[in-house]
Amino acid sequence: MVGQRLFSLLVVTTLLGACEISRTDDTAARTDATPANGAIVRLPAPADSEIPDGLLGASIRRGRALLAATPDSLPQHVGGQLRCTSCHLDDGTRVNAAPLVGVYARFPQYRDRSNSVATIQDRVNDCFERSMNGRALPFESRDMRDIVAWLAFLSRGTPVHRDTTPRGIPLLAAMSPDTARGRAEFVTTCAACHGMDGQGTPAGPPLWGPKSYNVGASMARLRTAASFIKYNMPNDRPGVLSEQQAFNLAAYVNSHSRPDLAGKENDWPNGNAPADVPYATRAKAQTADGGR
Ligand code: HEC
Ligand code: HEC
Repeated sequence: MVGQRLFSLLVVTTLLGACEISRTDDTAARTDATPANGAIVRLPAPADSEIPDGLLGASIRRGRALLAATPDSLPQHVGGQLRCTSCHLDDGTRVNAAPLVGVYARFPQYRDRSNSVATIQDRVNDCFERSMNGRALPFESRDMRDIVAWLAFLSRGTPVHRDTTPRGIPLLAAMSPDTARGRAEFVTTCAACHGMDGQGTPAGPPLWGPKSYNVGASMARLRTAASFIKYNMPNDRPGVLSEQQAFNLAAYVNSHSRPDLAGKENDWPNGNAPADVPYATRAKAQTADGGR
């Protein structure tokens, strides 16, 4: 891992030089030099040897463990079978998978989806309630403190509110998906790990159904899912899919039923919900066509 990080440091230093980061809502609109050829790029994270001794170090290590074993460690707060690192790949260091390196320095932050200022705890709980289809952690709980300690450690050296680390998943331009082709591609390219029925196997987590992310999660949006899939899947050889295939697959995955989210209609109260949000909000009626 340390060797990989040193290697990544070199790649990323080059990358960041060519990077232009802009953002609109909770999903970053990002254009950069991210390789689409399957090269896995990780952001440099502080070495384990920098974890301090004592209670703070124990808290940091426990936070990391919670993100990697979330359903087992926090069963009261996880509704499905995903762990945080099911999407925030490589312990939150994978550059194309909503990296958590530097995230602590991006908060507090204004969020369009809630039209409010979110702290890092609010943002962690958004993923508990949506991506994990679970329940929020109390801010003052040991679990939340440990998660925040780990995210802060991962963000060591990142200047506060200066946007120096890439955020989110680099979003592909919207494309019309072919769900039937997506199904065929799923069978040949994804089912071995995620199961023919999408319910997961020991080699990959569920993609739909009761143990997956709920409809309010960013991954339930066509462009977010297509972009994640394009850059990161199949897990053992990312980069083999075309953008069109990634959209077909995302549409197929998200065409299945998944848990609902109570109150989702209150999202984006200013009426600026992105086009691929798969549900109507009160501030703006939306069609479920996903992505256009
Ligand atoms: C189903 C996939 C998925 C799972 C599981 C998931 N997340 Fe996320 N998470 C996302 C996506 C997608 C984003 C949005 C990235 C963006 O802004 O484009 C995100 C954003 C975040 C952010 C803000 C990142 C930033 O740079 O602004 C934090 C913090 C976070 N997640 C923490 C967690 C934690 C902690 C867990 C486990 C409790 C978790 N996530 C589980 C998909 C997931
Ligand atoms: C070799 C096994 C493997 C293959 C093939 C594979 N995946 Fe995955 N996938 C994984 C693993 C493992 C994770 C979670 C990573 C982790 O937990 O470290 C994952 C995570 C995901 C996630 C985010 C978490 C979730 O469950 O929602 C999505 C979406 C996804 N894969 C879609 C796909 C699609 C679509 C394909 C086909 C193109 C595919 N995967 C092929 C193993 C695989």
